[in-house]
Amino acid sequence: MTDAWGPNRWWKSAVVYQIYPRSFADADGDGMGDLRGVIGHLDHLQGLGVDVLWLSPVYPSPQDDNGYDISDYQDIDPAFGDLDTFDELLAATHARGMKLIMDLVVNHTSDEHPWFVESRSGPDSPKRDWYWWRPPRDGMAPGAPGAEPTNWGSYFGGSTWAFDDATGEYYLHLFSRKQPDLNWENPEVRQAVYAMMRWWLDRGVDGFRMDVINHISKDPALPDGELPMGTAYANGGAAFLNGPRIHEFLHEMHQEVFAGRDALLSVGEMPGVTVEQAKLYTDPDRQEVDMVFQFDHVSVDRGPDPWAVVPLRLTLLKAVFGRWQAGLADVGWNSLYWNNHDQPRAVSRYGDDGRYRVASAKMLGAVLHLHRGTPYVYQGEELGMTNAPFRDIGDFRDIEALGQYAQAVEKEGRSPEDVLSVLRARGRDNARTPMQWDDSAHAGFTTGTPWLAVNPNHKEINAAAAVADPDSVYHFYRRLVELRHTEPAVVHGDFRMLLPHHEQLYAYTRRLDDTELLVIGNFSAEVVRAELEDAAAWASAELVLTNVATPPESLTLGPWQVIVHRRRLSR
Ligand code: GLC
Repeated sequence: MTDAWGPNRWWKSAVVYQIYPRSFADADGDGMGDLRGVIGHLDHLQGLGVDVLWLSPVYPSPQDDNGYDISDYQDIDPAFGDLDTFDELLAATHARGMKLIMDLVVNHTSDEHPWFVESRSGPDSPKRDWYWWRPPRDGMAPGAPGAEPTNWGSYFGGSTWAFDDATGEYYLHLFSRKQPDLNWENPEVRQAVYAMMRWWLDRGVDGFRMDVINHISKDPALPDGELPMGTAYANGGAAFLNGPRIHEFLHEMHQEVFAGRDALLSVGEMPGVTVEQAKLYTDPDRQEVDMVFQFDHVSVDRGPDPWAVVPLRLTLLKAVFGRWQAGLADVGWNSLYWNNHDQPRAVSRYGDDGRYRVASAKMLGAVLHLHRGTPYVYQGEELGMTNAPFRDIGDFRDIEALGQYAQAVEKEGRSPEDVLSVLRARGRDNARTPMQWDDSAHAGFTTGTPWLAVNPNHKEINAAAAVADPDSVYHFYRRLVELRHTEPAVVHGDFRMLLPHHEQLYAYTRRLDDTELLVIGNFSAEVVRAELEDAAAWASAELVLTNVATPPESLTLGPWQVIVHRRRLSR
């Protein structure tokens, strides 16, 4: 595929929809979603108009981290189905003109993966070096407190090192102890991963979302990190975020896996990536990945104290997006997201999930989608699904929430209420409550007992109601997808941020040749007038989209309103 903007860049005008299969639709009544459930709901996705489906992991897994701990890369977990059902889903997706990408989790495997089982069998194992094994710290007894090879803390609480009695050594796990990190320094590891990726592409999948892919290259010296006061473990990120050989590995992967294949999509999840690094990762000439998920805009409401909720400042959010838009304007490409399976629900976080839920969900959708970049919709976002009413720690299932709670409360002496209030606002389980299909028991997600409780608000917020209501969030998202497909200025236009110091309005223009779009979103429940230089000209321009019934008066926005104007400029 070639267009005026270069070969194989079809994903610039595409919208991706993320399915978290465990929570999407359960066809066999065991309380956990499955592939058959996805097949049964393809109409909903086709109706939305999305181009690509991204499936969170469905491979065999002990499910310690809901499938992000893989014990066999080339099969399907029986809880989700089997390879035949997968092939059926792939064919049905393609038949509807959509593509399907897989989640690629190769920073680590499960500790139950045969590679790790072999590696663990002893120091002479041919696969010993496939993982990071290290002796205890010099002069310390194996297994003694503080004898871990480095002082790093794991993302899920506790040390990043697990002690293995059998050999008296430790293995590295940046995530849970059931997710040992692969050693990408070893060329055999890399070749095994590339072969597996080719196997999926040969099967017909259309690309990969690459889990924490900027963590795969580690500084082999594994230096200690700085230990902040009052914390049990250090952040070791300097040794493994965007590490020394990361660009080499990604380029090699590109050569070995993607080169010569058409129309694929690769998106790298990259916590801690900077704009400058992203420019290198996504420069098409360097042949690494097509786009990255950055984390700056989902960090604006986090402060230095991880257990305090920091209110959102719109100016900060705009500064972050503005920097990314400018940084990748000429080289590289942005991905755009509010939500995924690791983030709380956008309407609860950045909008108003009470009185203005519908208006604010639409406003957020429009403001995000009309930036330059490829938008990602996470299941339920198109319904304006909200955070869940978790009461106490017993309501959470996520290994991150449980591990961090244990560390903060038991090891660091934090107050349980403080920790809970952050988990309620930011915890990952907010995104993982089952998809709300209808107003029946368990929201039509399952006939059994759901693995995580359905949000009680499914009586009001559900797909059946949304599809039937032309003014729903769903139909507004459908129009956003359509606008990306039909208006080249949305895809290719230059981006210019307006009113950067305004704390309520998010305003920008997109310009391509003689077409200019103006997008203004009101991030507040007040009526606010946008003071723009060329307000008079804009006020009479075509109104392409808005989320309230009465058209706005001269750039005056009602509560949580968004307006999108279009004008033709004379050259
Ligand atoms: C990524 C995934 C997250 C998972 C982690 C470890 O951040 O999105 O869900 O827990 O990697 O695989």
